[in-house]
Amino acid sequence: MKKIAILVLGALMNLYSHPIDIKIEEGICIIDGAERPLIGFGTYPLQDSICTQAIENAARCGYQIIDTATFYNNFKAIAKALKGQNRSDFYIISKVWHDMQSPENLRRDLDSTLEQLETDYLDAYLIHWPNNQIPIDQTLSEMEKLIQEKKIRHIGLSNVSVNHLKKVLEFNIPITWVQVEMHPYFYDHELLEFCFEHPITIQAWRPLDLGQVREDQILLEIGKKYDKTACQVALRWIIQHGCLPLPGSQNEQHILENGNIFDFSLSSKEMEKIDQRAVKGNRWRLKEETGFGFTDEFDFSYEDCWPISSLSR
Ligand SMILES: NC(=O)c1ccc[n+]([C@@H]2O[C@H](COP(=O)([O-])OP(=O)(O)OC[C@H]3O[C@@H](n4cnc5c(N)ncnc54)[C@H](OP(=O)(O)O)[C@@H]3O)[C@@H](O)[C@H]2O)c1
Repeated sequence: MKKIAILVLGALMNLYSHPIDIKIEEGICIIDGAERPLIGFGTYPLQDSICTQAIENAARCGYQIIDTATFYNNFKAIAKALKGQNRSDFYIISKVWHDMQSPENLRRDLDSTLEQLETDYLDAYLIHWPNNQIPIDQTLSEMEKLIQEKKIRHIGLSNVSVNHLKKVLEFNIPITWVQVEMHPYFYDHELLEFCFEHPITIQAWRPLDLGQVREDQILLEIGKKYDKTACQVALRWIIQHGCLPLPGSQNEQHILENGNIFDFSLSSKEMEKIDQRAVKGNRWRLKEETGFGFTDEFDFSYEDCWPISSLSR
């Protein structure tokens, strides 16, 4: 009811409307009028022929949403897998890396992404990690220009907190997606609530906690009732939260298994049981020793989380 009220209010006030309609029972999301299976395919750290093969398998199993990033260094392998396919049958997401977010660099990154992917447009272009050195309004304005030029369709952010989102929404630039860590050992409940209200759709990265959920006793126990694996229960938990899971795999059986989650439904008690543990979990942190050259910013206050340019002040 709350979501419908927000959508109606938004429409009446001529605010931007939510482009993603999610129908969990039917297992689809409707993006810009196209119905797509409510599951995406993650491509990190797949490379070269292993990546090409995995995407071909995923496409055969019915996946349409594909997640990549400049950092993954696998655009050419993805292009190879999609050769001969209808471009509009796929929804391709890519992410610009931390150090390429100035307007000029963003354009450079996108041009190189499109060239390597052998496509004219990205369905979604996300900021991979916030950069507290680059004014966010400048990056977003450039992304909005890229939408007008039809080089990208949707804008998204990744690895952000509610404070980041609050600041970004002040610029009235439509944010469609937020891609964050989410699995049965961790989820950011506050962020989910915020996204639901605004409305922004969450993409869940590391939805299987790197495959570790497969041995989880709670999930195995729940799965027994539905004849499902622990991984399937984990993915189902994510979609019943109204989020889009992005599991990755190079194993065709796993790819098939992960897509087979639309013929059962977790009860509210089962959802709560998984929630209770996940909400107390810890996120993965980008520490100095990770070697990325920067750290994450989840703890920043609203004032400090993201700089804006002097023009906007
Ligand atoms: N925005 C970000 O900062 C960010 C960060 C990390 C990841 N991501 C995105 O999120 C995607 C998913 O994350 P992830 O790949 O790190 O973690 P994940 O999807 O949680 O786990 C992948 C691992 O799980 C195993 N697996 C998959 N399905 C399985 C099944 N049914 N049974 C048993 N094992 C299974 C895979 O092994 P097999 O190959 O043997 O199946 C693989 O080792 C990435 O590919 C990437 O696109 C984004």
